[in-house]
Amino acid sequence: MFISFEGIEGSGKSTLMKSIRSWCGEKGIDGVFTKEPGGSELGVEIRSILTHVETKLDSRAELLLFLADRAQHMSSLIKPALHNGQWVFTDRFADSTIAYQGYGRGLNIKELMQLNNFALQGKWPDKTFLIDLDPELGLRRARGRNHKLGISQSEGRFEAEDLLFHNKVRQGFLECAQRSPDRFVVVDGRLSPEKIFFEVVAVLESYIKNF
Ligand code: ADP
Ligand code: TYD
Repeated sequence: MFISFEGIEGSGKSTLMKSIRSWCGEKGIDGVFTKEPGGSELGVEIRSILTHVETKLDSRAELLLFLADRAQHMSSLIKPALHNGQWVFTDRFADSTIAYQGYGRGLNIKELMQLNNFALQGKWPDKTFLIDLDPELGLRRARGRNHKLGISQSEGRFEAEDLLFHNKVRQGFLECAQRSPDRFVVVDGRLSPEKIFFEVVAVLESYIKNF
């Protein structure tokens, strides 16, 4: 099984993945937990370029860095793990490119679809959980988290973007979900972490039986 988690900053993806990791342990599922950008050795280097806000990046250059990260992630980690029968859980994947570079930055969605397909070798997630949340609340949460962890405000290239940008990104995710209703499950990010976890696990449980 190949599962991705999507949503704006602060929607609760990392929090959810932590609970899913424990759940996998209890169920004896051999899970691989990864993220984008930065899910491979090369990806860690690409991530440091992407998160360095002082580097002025052209939108297309930014896009190609995310795609390079994805191509390497797919070939070096995701594909081999799926081949081994492991379950792969990733914090962000190709839909983030559609939402951020397409809806946020305004690049052509059709072209992004093709480029995504090229980078991920046609292997889309079996299931994508979108945690949907109002960006005002998401960004407040993300800032609170960063403050607690002692991460400076400038850590995120996208956290510095305005609300209009994040609203477009949110809309982009929702439109991705509408385009692929069989793959997506949209979860209300205003729910408690426990409720979100139960909703997601209810879907995952059905795969254990079929796996
Ligand atoms: P993401 O990985 O999507 O950026 P996080 O999981 O890091 O988001 O969550 C951001 C902040 O919000 C953290 O401080 C986390 O504890 C908190 N949080 C996560 N999920 C919820 C939730 N469902 N309700 C309220 N707060 C949450
Ligand atoms: P990260 O800190 O991993 O995100 P989060 O705040 O959700 O934990 O930062 C990655 C940033 O990169 C995030 O703001 C979303 C953005 N991004 C894109 O713009 N395009 C992409 O294809 C991906 C995977 C991420």
